[in-house]
Amino acid sequence: MQSMVVQLEEGKDNGISVRTEQYKSFRPQLLLVLGLFLAGVVTIFIISTNKYTGLQSVVTTVTSSFVPRREEEPDGLSKWIQPPGVLMHNMSDEELLWRASFWPRRKGYPFKRVPKIAFMFLTRGPLPLASLWERFLKGHKGLYSVYIHPHPSYTAKFPADSVFYQRQIPSQLAQWGRMNMCEAERRLLANALLDISNEWFVLVSESCIPLFNFTTIYTYLSQSKHSFMDAFDDNGPFGRGRYNENMEPEVPIAKWRKGSQWFEVDRDLAVTIVKDTLYYPKFREFCRPACYSDEHYFPTMLTIEKPMALANRSVTWVDWSRGGSHPATFGGSDITENFFQKIFDGIHCTYNGRNTSMCYLFARKFAPSALEPLLHISPKILGF
Ligand SMILES: *[C@@H]1O[C@H](CO)[C@@H](O)[C@H](O)[C@H]1NC(C)=O
Ligand SMILES: *[C@@H]1O[C@H](CO)[C@@H](O)[C@H](O)[C@H]1NC(C)=O
Ligand SMILES: *[C@@H]1O[C@H](CO)[C@@H](O)[C@H](O)[C@H]1NC(C)=O
Ligand SMILES: *[C@@H]1O[C@H](CO)[C@@H](O)[C@H](O)[C@H]1NC(C)=O
Repeated sequence: MQSMVVQLEEGKDNGISVRTEQYKSFRPQLLLVLGLFLAGVVTIFIISTNKYTGLQSVVTTVTSSFVPRREEEPDGLSKWIQPPGVLMHNMSDEELLWRASFWPRRKGYPFKRVPKIAFMFLTRGPLPLASLWERFLKGHKGLYSVYIHPHPSYTAKFPADSVFYQRQIPSQLAQWGRMNMCEAERRLLANALLDISNEWFVLVSESCIPLFNFTTIYTYLSQSKHSFMDAFDDNGPFGRGRYNENMEPEVPIAKWRKGSQWFEVDRDLAVTIVKDTLYYPKFREFCRPACYSDEHYFPTMLTIEKPMALANRSVTWVDWSRGGSHPATFGGSDITENFFQKIFDGIHCTYNGRNTSMCYLFARKFAPSALEPLLHISPKILGF
């Protein structure tokens, strides 16, 4: 794998490495020759005339011929740690997942790494609540990154000063309950993994909102000992009832889990997901409607692979109390202080092994009509 990596990088940076070679071998002689030349010129000038202006112009000329070469730094660490400047690429999923599964084996980082939250927007098209997110992220540059995976026919258009500007990744059709939904989520994770500073990966939709200010959410995620993947064992027809024995032995029924799609995972779990070639074929073949893979694939495979890393709950609040197969959507008239008090109070869960009432960091689903009231209420109720 090592040699393939090197080849890939060489292919991409061919021009630079050729120039670097020339620069390296040329440099000592160049310095010597120019140094001697400069000394000679200065001596001649001091002898022939003591006009300061003449000397200055020669020095300026000689110095300026150095400048372009000095700017050409030799190939260093930066190409490995700089996030891709352009998110659009033409890698196939197979190429992307392979590339994203690279994982440094050595402990620590030989540079100052500021860990970031990657907000991954899985959307159909527009982001009606974008301005609320803009306000939430404002002033926290360097601590987050944004990725958008819309319907492939959609092109996001945001002004250059927006946090969403040019943050769209190559996307493919994603249908609720289908395996291509998991593929879209994996594609988001893989693209976000290409930025080595991304440490926590949050999947959100166009109808999600943050429930706290950025600092509070950053602290909550960064200090958590677990990732927030919803995973529970449901004995009923909509849980174990969807299990197919053909998934044995890789996926035993005892490890079969169900959970909401809206997760937060750390970098280790994100790599575990993108590198999976063992469970994925089983789910693609044997978990088809009425088995909804987006409710089972990640919770089950992570329960098998990294059970101790999971909080087994989601940090995204959603209201199923109205019944039916879709959760409630809230519009403008629902947005009141009382509405949020119900989300903040009266709920208990564990965080790093302790009881807490702070269980949710995000909430859904909110209709476009909720935007104005949300912008109005957020400084007081949500803290941003
Ligand atoms: C991506 O583009 C490069 C060069 O333009 C080409 O060689 C390569 O085959 C393309 N890959 C895919 C998957 O289309
Ligand atoms: C974020 O919210 C917390 C708690 O609600 C508050 O203490 C803190 O001052 C807020 N931070 C900012 C930058 O507004
Ligand atoms: C989540 O569930 C797994 C088993 O499915 C368990 O090993 C793990 O300890 C649980 N996490 C927490 C925080 O309780
Ligand atoms: C945590 O909350 C549960 C009920 O939700 C309660 O039974 C338990 O005693 C609490 N534990 C602690 C340590 O407070």
